Amino acid sequence: MSSILKITEKRPWLAWLIFFATVVVVFLLGLLASSIVERRAEAAYVNVPKTKVNQLDPRNEVWGANYPREFQSYYGTADTTFRSKHNGSAMVDMLEESPAMVVLWAGYGFSRDYKQGRGHYYAVTDMHNSLRTGAPKLPTDGPQPSTCMTCKSPDVPRLMNEKGVTAFYTGTWAELGPEVANPIGCADCHDAETMNLAITRPALVEAFEKMGKDIKKASYQEMRSLVCAQCHVEYYFDKKVAEGANYLTFPWNNGFSAEAMEEYYDNIEFSDWTHTVSKAPMIKAQHPDYEVYMTGIHAQRGVSCADCHMPYKSEGGQKFTDHKMQSPLNNISSSCQVCHREEAATLMANVYERQDKIIENRVKLEEILVRAHVEAKKAWDLGANENEMKEILKGIRHAQWRWDYAAAGHGNSFHSPVETGRVISTGIAIAQETRIKLARLLASKGFNQEVTYPDLSTKAKAQEFIGLDMKKLNKDKQDFLKNIVPQWINTAKDREATYDKVFYNKE
Ligand code: HEC
Ligand code: HEC
Ligand code: HEC
Ligand code: HEC
Repeated sequence: MSSILKITEKRPWLAWLIFFATVVVVFLLGLLASSIVERRAEAAYVNVPKTKVNQLDPRNEVWGANYPREFQSYYGTADTTFRSKHNGSAMVDMLEESPAMVVLWAGYGFSRDYKQGRGHYYAVTDMHNSLRTGAPKLPTDGPQPSTCMTCKSPDVPRLMNEKGVTAFYTGTWAELGPEVANPIGCADCHDAETMNLAITRPALVEAFEKMGKDIKKASYQEMRSLVCAQCHVEYYFDKKVAEGANYLTFPWNNGFSAEAMEEYYDNIEFSDWTHTVSKAPMIKAQHPDYEVYMTGIHAQRGVSCADCHMPYKSEGGQKFTDHKMQSPLNNISSSCQVCHREEAATLMANVYERQDKIIENRVKLEEILVRAHVEAKKAWDLGANENEMKEILKGIRHAQWRWDYAAAGHGNSFHSPVETGRVISTGIAIAQETRIKLARLLASKGFNQEVTYPDLSTKAKAQEFIGLDMKKLNKDKQDFLKNIVPQWINTAKDREATYDKVFYNKE
């Protein structure tokens, strides 16, 4: 102290400098403290709902009024401008990219139309537009059952509450057309009272029960993936639960692997359709995103879907969850780089490398499967009987199931590259073994040449090969979009005009 006194005695201006510096520091600290208090107050304010929302209210904008940042970022899923090497939010015609798929799905809706998924904002529109939903004129018309609506909309919890779950799964897709209006949204994943994450779909709860687990005991971090596992999973329609119902069921009793689910389906002798070329009883993999992710390193290290697809974002000092669920490659700095120190370009290259290597063998398997289907047809044509074909058709069923298990989840090659690669390899092995059996059978019928590979250079040629009348399908669809869909939208508008009264007792 005495030395400071001595110095300031010699230089009195220094004492003044120290004094003013202290004043400035204290002032700045005060500003910081007041800003912290203000942000805290703001945070509390932001997270306290302005209006009470009814859990069954399907309108995203009503929930969104309380949470403008989450709501606005959710609307980001309307953006269709991002295209990565293999995925993204743009509308890509997968059958045009890969016409062999048309033949793989001969006799099934996917051979008509299969587009790469877009953002959640389009869930209802894309379902109307798809040729897979056909052109129903009456509520009783097919081709699709009501159950198809389950993963598309927050109108679903509302309807399940009104009708009961089994009744929801009974009837046609067209019957629910006027009812399902809002795309995937807040009521699908949140509890209105607390805004905690919530499981709203019974199929996931029931699948957990069957595995002897209670989903209510899931951890906070697990919930950040389980909300997605309500829809991004493999499923089938169980027709044996109740008369007339297509009961949505996840085939998880024996486990998540391709083999475990295949065994499940074989045991109940389930098939989605009979292949029109080979007559094989087929299983269509839907999109086992959650199951495959669970076998990967990120899941094993406790990284959730939301960590990569809904990273935190900061706006005006407010940290919130980005609700624009999308390819993380459009947002590497907020997703991957929270954990990885590598450059964005390196991380992107890591993803592409895994995808490219998997796709190399996936495409090979597609070609082998097409060959197996046409060779099986040749065997039938040459008079093969059911008994001779039994093991062959089973081989085709298993090999294509494995191809689809790997291909149908668009994130699989990154989520779990080793497992996805393994499943495709087993598919190739089974398909080739099946073709050896086919070659022997064909030889025994006196045929010893290559069966001609169809011209699959375009989607149109592939569709012609399997005998689809695309002109008619497209025309019927246009009529449906022009005449039926506007009626559905109007009915929904009229119903929603009553919601303020129904849900909030307001005139
Ligand atoms: C209620 C069902 C449902 C839930 C819950 C759900 N999804 Fe989806 N998701 C869909 C459907 C349906 C599509 C395809 C929409 C389309 O193509 O019109 C989709 C598409 C996507 C896409 C592709 C978007 C793009 O831009 O290419 C991503 C990524 C995605 N979902 C991630 C998630 C994540 C992560 C979660 C959990 C936080 C989640 N989803 C929860 C049904 C759901
Ligand atoms: C597909 C599931 C899903 C949908 C749909 C969804 N959310 Fe979320 N939401 C999440 C997840 C996951 C989190 C992160 C939860 C956590 O870690 O606490 C979250 C967090 C939140 C939070 C907590 C604050 C924050 O930002 O982390 C709010 C508020 C919220 N969401 C509002 C909404 C609103 C409003 C909508 C509709 C416009 C909506 N959510 C739709 C999954 C969803
Ligand atoms: C929440 C943290 C977290 C996030 C977010 C995250 N990772 Fe990882 N990542 C990990 C951990 C942990 C491992 C395992 C590494 C280990 O344990 O040594 C890993 C492993 C990897 C690996 C090597 C595993 C393999 O597949 O061979 C790659 C590549 C990778 N991450 C890329 C990415 C990319 C790309 C993103 C963004 C899309 C991402 N990560 C997001 C934590 C994360
Ligand atoms: C470690 C980060 C990470 C985790 C965890 C993760 N994903 Fe992904 N996901 C990715 C990457 C990277 C891609 C590839 C994106 C691309 O090719 O553009 C992807 C792709 C996808 C796609 C296709 C996106 C598109 O653009 O069409 C969907 C759907 C998806 N993931 C859903 C999920 C679900 C559901 C979970 C949890 C069960 C999950 N992901 C967990 C990083 C992750």
